[in-house]
Parts: sequence; C-alpha cells; structure tokens
Amino acid sequence: MDSWAEKLIAAALLARERAYAPYSSFKVGAALLTARGKIYTGCNVENASYGLTVCAERVALYNAVSEGEREFTALAIVSDGPSITVPCGACRQVLAEFSRDLKILMGNSQGGYVAASLEELFPLAFTLDAAGEAAGKEGNNGRGEI
Ligand code: THU
Repeated sequence: MDSWAEKLIAAALLARERAYAPYSSFKVGAALLTARGKIYTGCNVENASYGLTVCAERVALYNAVSEGEREFTALAIVSDGPSITVPCGACRQVLAEFSRDLKILMGNSQGGYVAASLEELFPLAFTLDAAGEAAGKEGNNGRGEI
C-alpha cells in the first residue's frame, strides 16, 4: 500500500499535468496535506505579464485556505525531469504564515523525493505580532524583538 508521502507525490504529479506554463514550459505541481488528512492541489499559472505568474505551491495553499483550511502537515512539489524541485523563497514565506513545522517533500517526475522541514528550509520567517496572535503562536514585530 502507498504511504501518505507517496500519495501526496502522486497528487502533485497529477496537478502538474494541469500547469499553465506556455512561457517557461516548466510545469510544476503541488499537493498540500491538511491536519485532518485532506489533500489540496495546485499548479503554476503563468501570465503574459511574467511577474503575475503564481507558483504551484501558492495556488495549492490559496485553494486550501479559501476552503477554510488553516492547518497543514506536509506539502509535495514536483516538476519535469529527474531533478527534485525545491520551493522558491516567496512560497517559503507564504507557507510559513500557516505552518512553521510543515514537512516539505521535494520530488522529481519519477516519484522520488527528498524531505525537509520548512523550518530547515526557511528559518526565521518574517512575522507580525497581529498575525502571530491570530494564529495562536509566538510572533515578533519584524524587528527581531521578543
Ligand atoms: N515555479 C513554481 O511553480 N514553484 C516554485 O517553487 C518555483 C517556480 C514556477 C513559476 C514559473 O511558472 C515556472 O516555475 C518557472 O519559474
């Protein structure tokens, strides 16, 4: 039987097929696992005005949050080719807003992956007091004061 990690990678590979990437031809798929075991997926959606492109990870997260989800345990990311795909810096910050202890599965197109925690990939994420309090966690004021 497939492990939860293999299922998450498989969901990301399926999402990758729906990527809209006519400019870079780099198709990315992401699958986000919630604390209650539901999977939300996303793909990259590019735009002729290149800077408006949204990464697969953020599409998956926004998809989940717009459905009322706030707690996540793992995220799988895949793209084309034998190399693993790692989340960009902007996505790391956005993911850190919700789940600092998220497990990130960085996969390749053959189903292989390397796992790391978001904390390892993105220590000391920027937070504001208000957002930290709203999420029920310790925040800072963005100046490093505690
Ligand atoms: N991309 C993602 O979807 N996720 C990442 O973490 C890195 C980059 C997309 C954005 C763009 O459509 C394409 O990959 C090339 O940068």
